[in-house]
Amino acid sequence: MLERMNHTMHEENRQGEAYAPFVNDPTAYNKKFYIESYGCQMNFSDSEIVASILNENGFGATRNFEEADLILINTCSIREKAEQTVRKRLSDLRTVKKNNPGALIGVLGCMAERLKAKFLEEEKLVDIVVGPDAYRALPGLIAEAETGQKAVNVLLSREETYADISPVRLDSNGVSGFVSIMRGCNNMCAFCVVPFTRGRERSRDPHSILKECTDLLNNGYKEVTLLGQNVDSYYWVPENIETGKPVNFANLLEMVALIDPSLRVRFSTSHPKDITDDVLYTMAKYENICNYIHLPVQSGSSRVLQLMNRTYTREWYMAKVDRIREIIPDCGISSDIIAGFCTETEEDHQDTLNIMRHSKYDMSYMFFYSERPGTLAARRYKDDVPEEVKKKRLDEIVKLQNALSRESNQHDVGKTFKVLIEGNSKKSDQDWMGRNSQNKVVVFPKENYPLNKGNYVMVKVYDCTGATLLGKIEP
Ligand code: SAH
Ligand code: SF4
Ligand code: F3S
Repeated sequence: MLERMNHTMHEENRQGEAYAPFVNDPTAYNKKFYIESYGCQMNFSDSEIVASILNENGFGATRNFEEADLILINTCSIREKAEQTVRKRLSDLRTVKKNNPGALIGVLGCMAERLKAKFLEEEKLVDIVVGPDAYRALPGLIAEAETGQKAVNVLLSREETYADISPVRLDSNGVSGFVSIMRGCNNMCAFCVVPFTRGRERSRDPHSILKECTDLLNNGYKEVTLLGQNVDSYYWVPENIETGKPVNFANLLEMVALIDPSLRVRFSTSHPKDITDDVLYTMAKYENICNYIHLPVQSGSSRVLQLMNRTYTREWYMAKVDRIREIIPDCGISSDIIAGFCTETEEDHQDTLNIMRHSKYDMSYMFFYSERPGTLAARRYKDDVPEEVKKKRLDEIVKLQNALSRESNQHDVGKTFKVLIEGNSKKSDQDWMGRNSQNKVVVFPKENYPLNKGNYVMVKVYDCTGATLLGKIEP
């Protein structure tokens, strides 16, 4: 069984996929780097910062790891499976050293801190280990590794936001760009390794965020997604409180929406405890802020939610969903769900299925619980739900979500949506693929309309599958 079961496109569904950037003018640089990213969109976004730092230091990107002087893997620790994938990939890449003994291999990202000793000492196949807050040290570490030493920097920072670095867009569709607005997380959900791998939460200067979004717009992009582990707790305080005002997430959203009405704004992820009415009203006020919220529930049982340290109850979550629907009636809502957390009973599991029905999620990311060393849950609770039970419950959750997604899509048949074209559909270059405001994928024939990716078009939906709306351009 797959540990992770997705059924529509989302920023996280690239987990485990190779991610190799492309460079237009490789001759501009005297050395080549290859980078592969795993995990969430934050990691993909970080790889774009790393690419920028490397470009500045004479490294151009290549898609072919065999010709690279520097091979980097940006790693994820969120579940055990994610770590296993990276380990396997690292041993595959070891072959490069046979033909090119001078090539350096580096591990970046969330596994760096936890596994630094192991990578360097036991496995001897990694030359450089760099944690998510130490990317500025990369050129120095490369120089150190070139002299044959093992180079490590996994220090976490309370300030680093890479605010001044312009990311080099890697493998982007040129339509939709991701902009990091904060780093780290202060939440300490009991199951989660992120606060340990990425450190304390800090918000990025709004001016640098606006500049990055404006640059994307000027480069032809039509959509920005503001990224953070918990975007609703974004809070930036100016150095001089006399001359400037603090900026919260609702303020930031509005500022980004005002850059240009043709620039769509999305964001991820919202923690149910922190999303405010102000945010919802701001979404309702601006047409270009997409009506879509990723609102991970994790569990539908108040008892389990408390053990998870999510700080909301089942009732509180359901009231939040109702509030969203009240303020933004056509809002798309998606979720993350964990099956088989410590002590979960059949009754708790039924509560999860029920809350899914109540929330009518358009889409969910569903996982079974994977204990992570060092987390609150690993220290305090026993991982006591047998694997077959976890899998059975996950299976039921996935089946229910498939039915809910289908229902939600059927509900859209007959409606007309404004769709932003992202490119050709996967199946045919005669069809466009784009998304509506609710983040649903819409596929429709190009016919003879003079359209291109990055254009908006009105599309009427006449049919659907579980994951896609099928439409026709409304003349
Ligand atoms: N900051 C986001 C989540 C980031 S991790 C939020 O709070 O919603 C993405 C998802 O991975 C989580 O929402 C959770 O559903 C899942 N996850 C995290 N740790 C996990 C673990 N130990 N086992 C299984 N799933 C986990
Ligand atoms: Fe992990 Fe919770 Fe932070 Fe999300 S909010 S990154 S689940 S600790
Ligand atoms: Fe993975 Fe780190 Fe993201 S653990 S999910 S890459 S924050």
